Amino acid sequence: MKAIVYTQYGPPDVLRLKEVEKPTPKDNEVLVKVHAASANPADWHLMRAEPFLARLANGLLKPKNTQLGADVAGCIEAVGRNVTQFHVGDDVFGSMTLNELGSFAEYVCAREDLLALKPVKMTFEQSAAVPLAAFTALQGLRDKGQLRQGQKVLINGASGGVGTFAVQIAKSFDTEVTGVCSTRNLDMVRSIGADHVIDYTQADFTQNGQRYDLIFDAVGNRSVSDYQRALSPNGICAVAGFTTLSRLFQVIFLGAWVSRTGRKKIGMMATAKPNQKDLVFIKEFLEAGKVVPVIDRCYPLSDTAEAIRYLEKGHARGKVVIAVT
Ligand SMILES: NC(=O)c1ccc[n+]([C@@H]2O[C@H](COP(=O)([O-])OP(=O)(O)OC[C@H]3O[C@@H](n4cnc5c(N)ncnc54)[C@H](OP(=O)(O)O)[C@@H]3O)[C@@H](O)[C@H]2O)c1
Repeated sequence: MKAIVYTQYGPPDVLRLKEVEKPTPKDNEVLVKVHAASANPADWHLMRAEPFLARLANGLLKPKNTQLGADVAGCIEAVGRNVTQFHVGDDVFGSMTLNELGSFAEYVCAREDLLALKPVKMTFEQSAAVPLAAFTALQGLRDKGQLRQGQKVLINGASGGVGTFAVQIAKSFDTEVTGVCSTRNLDMVRSIGADHVIDYTQADFTQNGQRYDLIFDAVGNRSVSDYQRALSPNGICAVAGFTTLSRLFQVIFLGAWVSRTGRKKIGMMATAKPNQKDLVFIKEFLEAGKVVPVIDRCYPLSDTAEAIRYLEKGHARGKVVIAVT
């Protein structure tokens, strides 16, 4: 089968379309014929081994797992002998965990407990755009952010892969949502449900006198004192991304201290955990039309390096999808 493979860390040029052996599912896995995948920042962090800590996860000098791609949508071609939920021919979608990546390929093996039947009315491309970004938005808002009905919620990075899901998930919990994005994305962020939009090229959401019960930051470019200023007295800030290591460490350490000593809670969310329960929860939102994936671009498998090059510029409008077959 054809797969995107990298044998050394580096820029997107290290990605090669190669002929590799078709994988065989373990007892608790299914073999998925991949119709579509989608790219996430985790793919380029692992590809570049940036930050350096990524090497602890996937090999100090060169990648142990030489394939990338977490999100998948496709059709089951074979099942392991302990698989009970799915059958050959089922159309499924889901996300692999970060140490099992491999959906930038014609076939991938996936654990059955990380998959769900594909939403009926959605295409494979739409379905593949959902899992990891939606898990991040859901788990950041609901678990770290303790999202509740009626809250004032601000999403920083509202136009990106994670942000577009965060706006829609926050709205579906009946909250008042403010989305922060650049000028060209204001209409799109409004169109997916944001009650208010702030153009970050024109205004600073931490300086406008507004206070939010929950800030979900899918960029991670602000200081802890910025978050403190923009939070209501018992507010929570859940940060999903980071732009520099100093920002990351500030949110981890200073955020923990601020959270312990005051009423405002500020911290990084944990790495999003792919799981079937949340996938089914998100699928219900998709089928009810409460959440619609926003797709920026769709690349063929052979152009995965281009897709990653585009994504790592940091200005995707929604998701970047890889169409496989
Ligand atoms: N914790 C986890 O498990 C987890 C999982 C997935 C992702 N993440 C992290 O979450 C972050 C977002 O991921 P993603 O998939 O959404 O990335 P993405 O699709 O690349 O997001 C890019 C978006 O960020 C916006 N942006 C850039 N600079 C901005 C600024 N100064 N203010 C506001 N928005 C800005 C861009 O909008 P404009 O074009 O308008 O600038 C673009 O829409 C990444 O750092 C990623 O590593 C964490």
